[in-house]
Amino acid sequence: MRLSNRVNAMQESPIRKLVPYAEAAKKSGKKVYHLNIGQPDIETPKAFMESIKDFNDPVIKYSFSQGDPKLINAIIEYYKGYNMHFTENEILITNGGSEALLFAIIAICDPGDEILVPEPFYTNYNGFTGGVSVNIKPITTSAENGFHLPDKKEIEQLITNKTKAILFSNPGNPTGVVYSKEEINMLAEIAKQNDLFIISDEVYREFVYDNLEYTSFGNVEGISDRVILVDSVSKRYSACGARIGSLACKNKDFIKQVLKLCQSRLCVPTLEQIGATALYHVDKAYLDTVNIEYNKRRDIVYETLSSIDGVICEKPTGAFYVVAKLPIEDAEDFVIWLLKDFDLNGETVMFAPAAGFYATKGLGQNEVRIAYVLNEDDLKKAMNILKYGLEKYSRR
Ligand SMILES: Cc1ncc(COP(=O)(O)O)c(C=O)c1O
Repeated sequence: MRLSNRVNAMQESPIRKLVPYAEAAKKSGKKVYHLNIGQPDIETPKAFMESIKDFNDPVIKYSFSQGDPKLINAIIEYYKGYNMHFTENEILITNGGSEALLFAIIAICDPGDEILVPEPFYTNYNGFTGGVSVNIKPITTSAENGFHLPDKKEIEQLITNKTKAILFSNPGNPTGVVYSKEEINMLAEIAKQNDLFIISDEVYREFVYDNLEYTSFGNVEGISDRVILVDSVSKRYSACGARIGSLACKNKDFIKQVLKLCQSRLCVPTLEQIGATALYHVDKAYLDTVNIEYNKRRDIVYETLSSIDGVICEKPTGAFYVVAKLPIEDAEDFVIWLLKDFDLNGETVMFAPAAGFYATKGLGQNEVRIAYVLNEDDLKKAMNILKYGLEKYSRR
């Protein structure tokens, strides 16, 4: 028996594949600080569990395929706070941002079609596209210029008659980049002139630092029929396990077609939608507090990185990640070494080697992604371990 070429060609998660080394380190008695995955330690607002406790229907029924109207309306209100105006039939609730991305790609692309994605990118974009035989054409960006976009001409050179969309996360995972208004307008122009969809993954919308102006694709005028906004409660409300995301789009045909996909998987979990509705009603002050917390963490990580000779990394301005180029040759080897052969007073740290976030072979070999998802004290210790670890690794 043979499995499909499609599934065989899919990349193993570069974030999860080193987990056995971390498990072995823990078994040997080491404490491991996990800066390798985007699982925040921030407490989920209590409103989530409280609202579920109040549920006392005798049966947990299927919800509507498009999502619970109460949740859809809570999201409509949330968007209004950003001056984005959607109606009930322009939003679909999905199993996390992940399903929103998968459905958007299935609805837009046929097998063999192409999507432009700035690299390095969130690795699961490989899974969503590869699983349905769609190809990612990378727009290469680099640590040296803070992972900002190249100019319009360079991007347009990548467009073929198979290109259907531009997909990116903004603020960016893994780079922490926040695109400027000019970059957003450039992408909008490219989309209009080349008849492309924009899939704007804005699950980190609230995590923008230094009072930087943030331009959402939901606020760009004149192209709303080709803009698809992806959102999620996972990071916004630190509710990754709730698995609630959404798609918002003004293109009625797109929504109509995606609804068929929603119908085929019946619905999103009923109780979690109740919890997510409560989350979207949480006072905005919660998000401001979380922003301040991540801002402090970002500063800790960046200060340590800046103090290490040979590290290349612009100060990230969003999300809770940074990609740093280290003065070594093979980041994966370094990450494994940190877990297997190194400790500082019985403790070590884990990062994600960044090569897996690139589609272009050979890029990112000496880069790691650091997720600043731990409290300040742990983060300081973890970054100190990186500093000493790098010194020792280089002297081997
Ligand atoms: C950029 C980006 N988009 C989408 C997701 C998917 O999130 P979820 O499916 O948990 O909503 C993630 C998760 O890490 C992410 O970083």
